[in-house]
Amino acid sequence: MARRVYIETFGCQMNAVDSARMLTLLGTADYRPAESLSDADLVLLNTCSIREKADQKIYSALGRLRRWKREREGRLVAVGGCLAQQEGTALRKRASHIDIVFGTHSIAFLPDLVRLAEGQGAPVSTDLTGDTSHWDVLPYLADGAVSAMVTIMQGCDNDCAYCIVPHVRGPEISRPSREILNEIRELAERGVREVVLLGQNVNSYGKKEGEIPFPELLRRISRIRNILRIRFITSNPRDLDRETIRLFSEIESLCPHVHLPIQAGSERVLSSMGRGYTREEYFGKVEDLRKARPGIAFSSDFIVGFPGETEADFQDTLSVMEEVRFDSSFSFRFSPRAGTRGAAMAETVSKEEASDRLTRLQTLQARHSRDRFAACVGKEVEVLVEGKSAKDPDRLCGRTPCYKTVNFSPVTEGQEAVRRVRIRSAGHHSLSGEEGGPRG
Ligand code: SAH
Ligand code: SF4
Ligand code: F3S
Repeated sequence: MARRVYIETFGCQMNAVDSARMLTLLGTADYRPAESLSDADLVLLNTCSIREKADQKIYSALGRLRRWKREREGRLVAVGGCLAQQEGTALRKRASHIDIVFGTHSIAFLPDLVRLAEGQGAPVSTDLTGDTSHWDVLPYLADGAVSAMVTIMQGCDNDCAYCIVPHVRGPEISRPSREILNEIRELAERGVREVVLLGQNVNSYGKKEGEIPFPELLRRISRIRNILRIRFITSNPRDLDRETIRLFSEIESLCPHVHLPIQAGSERVLSSMGRGYTREEYFGKVEDLRKARPGIAFSSDFIVGFPGETEADFQDTLSVMEEVRFDSSFSFRFSPRAGTRGAAMAETVSKEEASDRLTRLQTLQARHSRDRFAACVGKEVEVLVEGKSAKDPDRLCGRTPCYKTVNFSPVTEGQEAVRRVRIRSAGHHSLSGEEGGPRG
């Protein structure tokens, strides 16, 4: 009888797509997805290490698994992803019930590791090498999925002072464009209508390998039949080039939303973070994108309380927000990560002060998000349907081209992936409407 695996994914989309690959791979070792922890034989934590809080979440999840494992003979606990890459087998010092530890570059070995652990009842782990053979594995796709993430590169060659990613994901490696295009063609044949291209810094795609440049990759993807929407994350503003910006006026399927993490608004802080762009350069790119595609939406990431950040520096961050008016953003208190340059810098902002700045930033963002969402009321938008609405099974849920969630009442039976929806009201994080335009 097939055994069951339950994967808990922490962190970013990189991990989400890696988890989907792990599901495909574990299928070859006769594991099927479990509905919940209680019917699982194997639990796999795909971990993140980006901030201290991320680490804590994983340690407490591991704590809970101690009991889960004791409840039934033969249950296995596996830990992969970024924290596993960072800590390696040292993880077992804190959690001796871990059976398998594997890094971000050894995903392809997972079926072998599981078989080994099943057989010998002793802990196993892999060396953390630069292997990318898992790229050939098609991420597990749920029945009826219309949107899929596609890895185009992994790792990062930047050296942002605060960031652990280059340490846990290794140097940047781009995937051959031929493989990417083949994967997207296959996805389109299986019903996928939207692809999200993933990398830590997608705009530097292929430069090291002498592959086609990122804009050319976008052009080729846009010619694949039935791919109606193309998105990408993440762009370091420094590497977002003119040609990519221009494509927003040329390729209709390139969605009018860019996630463009600025991190901070002060020149001095940006420079000590090592981000490689100035505030003015950032504004320049936003303006060029708005010219290329009027109405384009922006989202961003912010860090508050970076070492040396004064109240005046923080005000510069708020003023960037006023200037750009992001639809949404993610914001975090600086968290020193072992081995990064930022961890060696003297912390000058107290936890209380950093929390206060974070609250002020998030309050301003909430106001901007509310305004940006409210501006959609009365408009007719195209929604790519992702499934039933969580709160009301008679309604459908999907996203606008600019990435806003919409819940709506359908009027057509059909199976069309894209529906025209009239927006009737707006919340903080989602829109509500009905299909087929105004009804009086
Ligand atoms: N490659 C992406 C970032 C990935 S990490 C980019 O360059 O934009 C996602 C976000 O986590 C970052 O944008 C940053 O805002 C936040 N982050 C990363 N390291 C952090 C740290 N040490 N403390 C607080 N926030 C951090
Ligand atoms: Fe981290 Fe900077 Fe690379 Fe993004 S670009 S992953 S923030 S080092
Ligand atoms: Fe976390 Fe690793 Fe992503 S540290 S944010 S899961 S690349």
